[in-house]
Amino acid sequence: MTVLVTGGSGYIGSHTCLELLNAGYDVVVIDNLCNSSPKSLQRVEELAGGKHIPFYQADVRDRAALTKIFEEHTIDFVIHFAGLKAVGESVAKPLAYYDNNLNATMTLCDVMGSHGCKRIVFSSSATVYSGDNKMPLSETSKTGNCTNPYGWTKYMGEQILRDIAKADPEWSVCNLRYFNPVGAHESGLIGEDPKDIPNNLMPYISQTAIGRRDHLSVFGNDYDTPDGTGVRDYIHVVDLARGHVAALSYLQDHKGECIFNLGTGVGYSVLDMVHAFETANGVDVPYEIAPRRPGDLPTVYSSPEKSRQVLGWEATYSLEDMCRDTWHWQSLNPNGYQD
Ligand code: NAD
Ligand code: UFG
Repeated sequence: MTVLVTGGSGYIGSHTCLELLNAGYDVVVIDNLCNSSPKSLQRVEELAGGKHIPFYQADVRDRAALTKIFEEHTIDFVIHFAGLKAVGESVAKPLAYYDNNLNATMTLCDVMGSHGCKRIVFSSSATVYSGDNKMPLSETSKTGNCTNPYGWTKYMGEQILRDIAKADPEWSVCNLRYFNPVGAHESGLIGEDPKDIPNNLMPYISQTAIGRRDHLSVFGNDYDTPDGTGVRDYIHVVDLARGHVAALSYLQDHKGECIFNLGTGVGYSVLDMVHAFETANGVDVPYEIAPRRPGDLPTVYSSPEKSRQVLGWEATYSLEDMCRDTWHWQSLNPNGYQD
C-alpha cells in the first residue's frame, strides 16, 4: 500500500513518514519546502534502514505536479499535512493562509477523485473547538468561533472534506484533531526546526536552554489554573505519528467522515513544562512572567477515549520522554537541519 504524504518533510510529516515505513507502507512525499528542509527525509530514509522515499518538490496547489505523482504511482491513501501554521502570521496575512491551506486541500481532493483515490487523513487541530466548551474536549464538543484565520482554515478544511464524503459515499475522510505536538524521534536525527523565532512553547524552551534565546516569556500567570499559567495537552510527536498509522487501518474498511482527537487527555501548565524540562535534562530554563498572549485560552485538553476505543490507539510517551527527546534533538542539532 502506498501513501502520498503532503507536507511530508515537515515536523509531523517526517515523523509520520518514518512510522509509515516502519509499518510496511510505501511513502511518496510532496512538499514545496516553504517551511522545511529536504534533509529531514534523507534522515528518515536512514532511520528506516535505507528505504527510499520518492520526493516531489512542488506546491500542492499545482495541479499538474499532483497529476504527475498520481500518474507515476498508484496511491492508496493520502495524508494531508501541507499547510501554513503560524497563528500570528495568519492574522497579518489572511489571504495567504486561505489561499495556501484551502486551495491546496481542494486541488488535492479534485486530483485524488479523478484518479480514483478517495481515502484521506487531514491534519486538523484542537483550534477548531470553540473556546466556550467544558474540558475535556470530545469530538462532539462545539466547534467554530475560531480566533484567527489559521483556525478557520482548519475548520473549513474539515468542512470541505465532510461535504465531499457526503456527496460521494466512496470517500473515506478522517479529520484528526491534534492537540500540542512536542518532542522528537528518540534518535535525535529528526525534530522540530522552526525557521524564525518559535511561536510554540516547547521549541522556545529548548532554544532558551541551549542559549539561542535569552529567556522564555511565560504568557500570563493569572489564569484560573493551578499555578496561574496556561494548561495544554502536550503529545509526543511519535505517538501522534502512530495515530496516523492507526487512522489508515481504520480507513481501510470505513467510508464516510470520521473525527478523532489525538491527545493524551492530560493537561500540563507552562511552568510544569519548564520544570519538567529542567529536571529531565539537567539544564536551566530562565523565564520571566509576561502579559497574556491575545487569543489564548486558560486550559485546553482532550478526551482521548474515542481514539482509544475506535482506533485502538493511545499515547504512550510520558512528559519526561517528551522533554528528553526534544533536548536530544536540540543538542545534536543546535541550529536545526542547518547543522
Ligand atoms: P510544518 O510546517 O513543519 O510542516 C508543514 C509542511 O508543509 C512543511 O514542510 C511545508 O514546507 C509544507 N507546505 C506548506 N504549504 C505547502 C504547499 N502549499 N504545498 C506543498 N507543501 C507545503 O508543520 P507541522 O507542525 O508538521 O504541521 C503539519 C500539519 O499539522 C499542518 O497542517 C498544521 O497546520 C497541522 N497542525 C500542527 C500543529 C502543531 O502544533 N505543530 C497542531 C495542529 C495541527
Ligand atoms: N506560551 C508561553 N510562552 C511562549 C509560547 C507559549 O507562555 O513563548 C504558552 C501559551 O500562552 C500557552 C502554552 O504556552 O499557554 C502553549 O502555547 P503554544 O503556542 O505552544 O500552543 P497553543 O496551544 O497556543 O497552540 C498550538 C498550535 C496551534 C494549534 C493548537 C492546538 O500553535 O496551531 O496548539 O491546540 F492549533
